[in-house]
Amino acid sequence: MRLILLGPPGAGKGTQAVVLSKEFGWVHISTGDILREAVDKGTNLGLEAKKYMKKGELVPDNIVSRMVVDRITHLPSSKGFVLDGYPRNEAQALNLENALAKLGIKIDMVIYLKTSPEVIISRLSGRRVCKKCGANYHMRNIPPKKEGMCDKCGGELIQREDDKEQTIRNRLRVYGEQTKKLLSHYEKEGLLKTVSGDLDVHRLFQELSVLFKEVRFT
Ligand code: AP5
Repeated sequence: MRLILLGPPGAGKGTQAVVLSKEFGWVHISTGDILREAVDKGTNLGLEAKKYMKKGELVPDNIVSRMVVDRITHLPSSKGFVLDGYPRNEAQALNLENALAKLGIKIDMVIYLKTSPEVIISRLSGRRVCKKCGANYHMRNIPPKKEGMCDKCGGELIQREDDKEQTIRNRLRVYGEQTKKLLSHYEKEGLLKTVSGDLDVHRLFQELSVLFKEVRFT
């Protein structure tokens, strides 16, 4: 399966992508994670990306598209993947289609996690991430066993820099202006399925699994 997860910030794209990749053996490609890693390492890409990320703006298309295409090109052609956070506008979608066509593969399904505004705000304000391994928690919904400490590696749990109120507002605006337009693009292509992002992690995973039974995938 070659899958795209679409949805507003906080919809649970990253959380489901982790669960799906574990369950089905697909590769999880998260542009947010790749960019944050570059920022932490202080690479040239990271320094450039940080300027945009801290304001909640999109990092320029050419940087992000190159990163994603590079990852996909290095996968074995039979390997499934789940894209989380990419594409985010029409130019990125077209770039992805061209790159996949050159590899002789295509996207099988695009899932939109339709999520209500109050759920988005509660998820983003309660999110905590591990400083060391990047694992994702929520103070109320998915709390760690020990407060402030990652269950997986014992690292410190922190709030993401772009989960501050003003930046959240900007990310939601950018989503409304750019990413949401992709829904009609993928609807026209006959690839779009919509699932409620408000469901809890387990229920949402079950709903997604039902959809996958409808398509043949690798
Ligand atoms: P990115 O990291 O992709 O951020 P985002 O799209 O804003 O999405 P989030 O990571 O905030 O939310 P999510 O939907 O993954 O939710 P999560 O699973 O974490 O991008 C960050 C920045 O990088 C962008 O602003 C931009 O600057 C740049 N960037 C990235 N991609 C780019 C691109 N293609 N082009 C240009 N720039 C790009 O869940 C949220 C919280 O809710 C967590 O606490 C989680 O534990 C909890 N939770 C999740 N699911 C559930 C559930 N079902 N029930 C209860 N709680 C849940």
